[in-house]
Amino acid sequence: MKLILLGPPGAGKGTQAKMLVEHFGIPQISTGDILRGAIKAGSPMGLKAKEYMDAGALVPDEVVVGIVEERLQQDDCAAGFILDGFPRTLPQADALAVTLKTLDKELDAVISLVVDTEALVARLAGRRTCRDCGAGYHLLHEPPRKDGICDKCSGELIQRDDDKEETIRNRMEVYQQQTAPLVDYYRNLGLLSEVDGMMDISAVGQRILEILKA
Ligand code: AP5
Ligand code: MG
Ligand code: ZN
Repeated sequence: MKLILLGPPGAGKGTQAKMLVEHFGIPQISTGDILRGAIKAGSPMGLKAKEYMDAGALVPDEVVVGIVEERLQQDDCAAGFILDGFPRTLPQADALAVTLKTLDKELDAVISLVVDTEALVARLAGRRTCRDCGAGYHLLHEPPRKDGICDKCSGELIQRDDDKEETIRNRMEVYQQQTAPLVDYYRNLGLLSEVDGMMDISAVGQRILEILKA
């Protein structure tokens, strides 16, 4: 199973990717998570990426394309992968096509999660993430059992730096301008399925699995 999860900030890409990891036993490749890891590690790439991410802008194509190219060649991607947050521009989509061709792999599906803008803002504002294991929560929709503490590892729950109101607005705009054209790009390739991402988390997951089975 080789798939792309497409959708605006807060659409539920990360949430559904984690469900799919458990269901199919294939890795989630989230460029956002990889970049945040690089920031945490203080690597030169992380330092450079942080400026773009804090502003809600996209990190330059060559940086993320390099990350994904390298990641797709690792052994755990042999049986498949879930791309979460990549590609995000037409040049990234073209670069991915070249990489997959070189690796003799083909995409099976592109799932586009469709969610109203107002709901997206509310999801991002209420999102909390475990500092230690990366598990995701929402203050209203998926609250932890204990306030501020991860159910899985007891780590501290934190808010992402780019989940501030004005940065959220920028990220939405960047999505509309640079990423939304990928919906038609993949529709034209016959790979796109749109999923109503306004349903609750498990209903969205069910729908994705139905599409992937078909
Ligand atoms: P990235 O980390 O990819 O962020 P994003 O695309 O903005 O998406 P999010 O992670 O915010 O949302 P999500 O769709 O994963 O939603 P989630 O499942 O968490 O990128 C961050 C930055 O890195 C970018 O701005 C850019 O700078 C850089 N970057 C990354 N990739 C790049 C690339 N390819 N090129 C260039 N730059 C790149 O859900 C959100 C919340 O809603 C959670 O709290 C969740 O619990 C809740 N929720 C989820 N589903 C539902 C539901 N159905 N109902 C109710 N609540 C729900
Ligand atoms: Mg995410
Ligand atoms: Zn945790």
